[in-house]
This record gives sequence, C-alpha cells and structure tokens, in this order.
Amino acid sequence: MWRELLPLGRHPASGGYRRFAWSGVDGDCRAWFQEQARARGLTYETDRNGNQWAWLGDPAAGDAVVTGSHLDSVPDGGAFDGPLGVVSAFAALDELRGRGTRFTRPLAIVNFGDEEGARFGLACVGSRLTAGQLTREQAHRLTDGEGVTLPRAMEAAGYDPDAIGPDPERLARIGAFVELHVEQGRALDLSGDRVGIASAIWPHGRWRFDFRGEANHAGTTRLADRRDPMLSYAETVLAARREAELAGAVATFGKIAVEPNGVNAIPSLVRGWLDSRAADQDSLDAVVAGVEKAAGEYAAAHGVDLAVVRESFTPVVEFDHALRDELARILGKDTGLTVPVLGTGAGHDAGILSGSIPTAMLFVRNPTGVSHSPAESATEDDCVAGVLALADVLEGLART
Ligand code: GLV
Ligand code: MN
Ligand code: MN
Ligand code: MN
Repeated sequence: MWRELLPLGRHPASGGYRRFAWSGVDGDCRAWFQEQARARGLTYETDRNGNQWAWLGDPAAGDAVVTGSHLDSVPDGGAFDGPLGVVSAFAALDELRGRGTRFTRPLAIVNFGDEEGARFGLACVGSRLTAGQLTREQAHRLTDGEGVTLPRAMEAAGYDPDAIGPDPERLARIGAFVELHVEQGRALDLSGDRVGIASAIWPHGRWRFDFRGEANHAGTTRLADRRDPMLSYAETVLAARREAELAGAVATFGKIAVEPNGVNAIPSLVRGWLDSRAADQDSLDAVVAGVEKAAGEYAAAHGVDLAVVRESFTPVVEFDHALRDELARILGKDTGLTVPVLGTGAGHDAGILSGSIPTAMLFVRNPTGVSHSPAESATEDDCVAGVLALADVLEGLART
C-alpha cells in the first residue's frame, strides 16, 4: 500500500512531493484512498468539505473512534508528513482484524483535504471548514498563485464548492480523534524512543508583508533615486531572525513573490510571507510586533509603502488530557515504560479538531529531524512500531 502511494506526485529532480490540494496528483492520492477503503470492505464517503472517510461499523451510530491524517504536501515535501498517518491507519486496522478485535464503537479512517495550505495559502482547510473555524465565504475567496479560486479548483476536481461549510453533525458522531504523524524534530531520536505522544501545538500564524516601491531600470537608475522594496524586505528578513532569537521563538520568510520579477528591473513589489510560532502567545505577539515595527522603519527609510495582512492564525492547542493519559496508559500497559510526551511547533488537523472533540496525536521517530523536505525520514521498524502503537490505542479505545 505504501509502495503504491510513493510514486504519486514525486518530483523527479528534487525527489520531493508536490501533492497540492485539488490538483490531478491530489486526485490520484484520493483514488488511492478510495481503493484502500474498497479493498477492505469499508464504507467510503466524502463529506461536504471534500474530506474522505472510510468506516468500519455504522457511521451514524455515534461515539466513533477516528484516525487518519492528510495526503497533500508542501512544495517538495517528504514522503511521511501526512501519508504516514493515513497508511498507518489502514495498517492498524489490518493488524486489529488479524487479532480478531471486536469493536463496540464505529471506527473511521480520514484523509483531510488541503492540510498544508501549499496552494491556497491557508493550512488545514478541510478540518477548519468542518470545525466551523473557516466560513464558506472565506474559503470561497481563497485563490492560488495562478488566480484559480478554491471553488473553481474543487469544481474541476468534481466536488461541489457550494456544499462546503461547518459540519457539526459529523463532529457530534466522533468520540475521539487520534492522528499519527512523523515527528518534525529530533526529540524521539535523542530520547531513544520510537513513538511519542503530543502534548500541545504552539500558537502559530502566517502574515503577508507587501512592500511597494517603484519599478525602474536596473542600469540607469541612480542608487539615490530608487524606491527599492527588495532592500526593506531583505532587512525585514534579518529583523525576523533577531526578534525570534530574542523571544525564543521561530520566524521564517519561506515564500516570496516579486513584481515584475525581471533581472534588470528594480522591483515594484516584494511580497513576503512570514510564518512565526512560539511556545506561548506573548512571545509570538512580541515577534510579530517587532518584525512589523522594523519593517515599517525600513520601508520608510527606502521610500517604500508597507501593508501587513494576517492571513491565518491558530492559537495554542492543548490536547485532551484525559485522552492523552489514556494513550499513555494503553501504550505503557505491557512494557511498563513511560511514553515521552512532546510539544510541537507544527500545525495539524488534530489541533484544529481539538477545539470540538477529544483529540490526541502519536509521533513516530524521525532520525534526521527534518520535515517539509525530501530529507524527512523514518525507519521501517519505527513505522511498524507506530502502526502497532496506533493499533493498541484504537483497540483500547474502541473496545471500551
Ligand atoms: C504544517 O505542517 C505546518 O505546521 O506548517
Ligand atoms: Mn506538514
Ligand atoms: Mn502533516
Ligand atoms: Mn501540518
């Protein structure tokens, strides 16, 4: 099953994955999911927001135990971020069927749409819509770099964009959601553990900085006469690094758009996206305020106009304590070992859903610690340990 998924959307030059929401490759990944559900005799459905579900038991019965993750990727992402959680979900179900486990609660596997936000700029669109954290109107305004809106992209992929919106009835039928994910750091590698449990997700967000100057000839415009937005942008990148260091936070300008984008033209516009995250809200606020202030000063110094727009924000997430303790109890039951509990700076659908239903996460060791890059990794043995841990958790939850 992993082998069939591996070639989908893999870029031959970088070796990374380009699985953007509602693209042809995303459709291939969705077809793969549907086939996995069919092959296991599970009840397959897509919800009003395009998320895919595969049910064992009656979807209407309520108090379901749900697991899964996402199949989309960042530009040139790794093989594991997202798919490991979906593949492990199917593998854990196979394991439990092999054990002859009888469930007293319905079980579902989910593939949430557009988790990374690589195409439309907003992460976790599928889960945000479901949880009512994104309105239909807001979603309809999302536009990709080519000017294609989310509704047009969904329509082209065969989905009805007018159906999207909050799905409280669906959430009400879920008793617990557990997402397995590759660790995006080296805490488990350092502690020598294969699997960990998530405690919290840092508050995080994305801010767009538009520096507008004046396009002009690169050869004939005297330095003194320029209104060059690239200079204020470059200084702002350095300020973000400084502010993040001061606050013990992280800040990244990882995406940029330049107009007119010619080698021999001074830019008229430099648009940079700041991604910043911190362990606590005050530190994050301090970083963003510091970067905005610095950017304003640099823009003024270069005769450039600045506009800053907060494109998305997710407050701190504390995963459900009772569910977390239950996972720790289930995983430590036979070995007596304590499973490490880790915080993370990465966003997940589980974080979005945690506002509505009891939610937990399992992390699988990543020896490189690298993620959102082809260098992301996990050994086969650790992936198997993750599947067995997930199977134990599902068995522990769905039999009670
Ligand atoms: C998504 O993986 C994010 O945390 O940016
Ligand atoms: Mn990711
Ligand atoms: Mn992910
Ligand atoms: Mn993520």
